[in-house]
Amino acid sequence: MKEDNKLTILVVGAGGREHALVKKCLSSPLAGRVIAAPGNGGMAAEVDCFSVTVEDVPGMVALARKEQVDLVIVGPEIPLSLGLVDALEAAGILAYGPFRAGAELESSKAFCKDFFARHKIPTADYGNFTEVAPALEYLKAHPAPIVIKASGLAAGKGVIMAETEEEAICAIKGMLEGGDFGQSGCEIVIEEMLFGEEASIHVIASGEDYVCLPASQDHKRAGEGDTGLNTGGMGAYCPTGAITPEIQAAIEESVIRPTLAGLKADGIDYRGTLYAGLMLTKNGPKILEYNVRFGDPETQVLLPMVAGDLVPVLLASAKGQPLPDNLDFHAGAAMVVVLAAEGYPGSYEKGKEIDLPEAVPSEIEIVHAGTMRTESGSTRTAGGRVLGVSAQAPTLQEAADLAYEICDQITFAGKYLRRDIGHRELKRG
Ligand SMILES: Nc1ncnc2c1ncn2[C@@H]1O[C@H](COP(=O)(O)OP(=O)(O)OP(=O)(O)O)[C@@H](O)[C@H]1O
Ligand SMILES: [Mg+2]
Repeated sequence: MKEDNKLTILVVGAGGREHALVKKCLSSPLAGRVIAAPGNGGMAAEVDCFSVTVEDVPGMVALARKEQVDLVIVGPEIPLSLGLVDALEAAGILAYGPFRAGAELESSKAFCKDFFARHKIPTADYGNFTEVAPALEYLKAHPAPIVIKASGLAAGKGVIMAETEEEAICAIKGMLEGGDFGQSGCEIVIEEMLFGEEASIHVIASGEDYVCLPASQDHKRAGEGDTGLNTGGMGAYCPTGAITPEIQAAIEESVIRPTLAGLKADGIDYRGTLYAGLMLTKNGPKILEYNVRFGDPETQVLLPMVAGDLVPVLLASAKGQPLPDNLDFHAGAAMVVVLAAEGYPGSYEKGKEIDLPEAVPSEIEIVHAGTMRTESGSTRTAGGRVLGVSAQAPTLQEAADLAYEICDQITFAGKYLRRDIGHRELKRG
């Protein structure tokens, strides 16, 4: 902490999620200096960015030390799974995010499923396999449709929804013998296919203490009507009517609290974000997966909904201290629409000049994802998901109208967006 008692905060990552975190930190009265590594074009226009990659744990620790950082906020899962928070703690630097042991909930789906089983948390039936023969045996006993998953991190691509036995065998052999997904596919999870509506709940945890953020939903598919290839996410919104107060209570009761108690019982001191991906089945909510960090693009709608300062909450979590009972949220809803590069998630071009509106209303945030800032100060495309436009309004329809109005004012060659973000919720009325 510096003489003025204000914090120097380092945000680790380069996507829309991290830009949203930077913006939230900049609005905090506790924050003195905010920096990012490696950052992107949007972050570079607002804060100092340092070219340390998210995989470079020693480099990140050295940067935090050199810049006298008081709090590191880790965005993506990779540095968490590499033990960045452990390394920072060893260096005496406070960090928001789980230690490596907790991050395993995301970095090993096999570990996560065994955790659910051990603590009786409702989830799809499953088996974990490292050899083809027992996997095929399991398949015989549990015929398709079935889900085959690479256990390790696969950037959202390691899940095969096999409709037929043939597809299932192909996925099993591809991962265990064919090297699909590399090291991440050396162990697989085969699990029951669940049916229902999907929704997510993010909690900020500090041991067994937690606070919930509004329930959200996202759109993973590239095409309108939720068709086409899977992407990192083309848009998101919150809250969602799919999670009524009763369902929320049931999820906290049967999933969230048993998870935090289970982690504690297993000797894991869990601090940071726990992002529960849920399937609302006719037999009640079941957990599909945990992520151990904020979602992208969910963060771009969750943070604007937080009415007060989030930094004290992140700080308390990082220190393992008690959290407030509740957070205050704005009334209404938020939506983010992702502007992608034509061709994404397949191949796409980079380096296109981006023209942004000079000023936007206060309810709007233009969040950068795959962008870079040139020496002359112009902004160019540098990734598949380029920008997100997030809007906060009294209703989701108004948020959508506002967001799309700004989306139409942004130009770059090959701009692609879905026009139907929020369709399920908007139809729910
Ligand atoms: N058992 C299941 N039944 C039905 N659909 C499933 C099941 N498991 C996964 N899915 C579908 O596949 C998607 C991705 O699965 P999962 O969340 O386990 O993978 P992931 O690669 O960790 O994804 P993310 O990038 O969202 O973290 C889910 O959002 C869901 O739509
Ligand atoms: Mg995941």
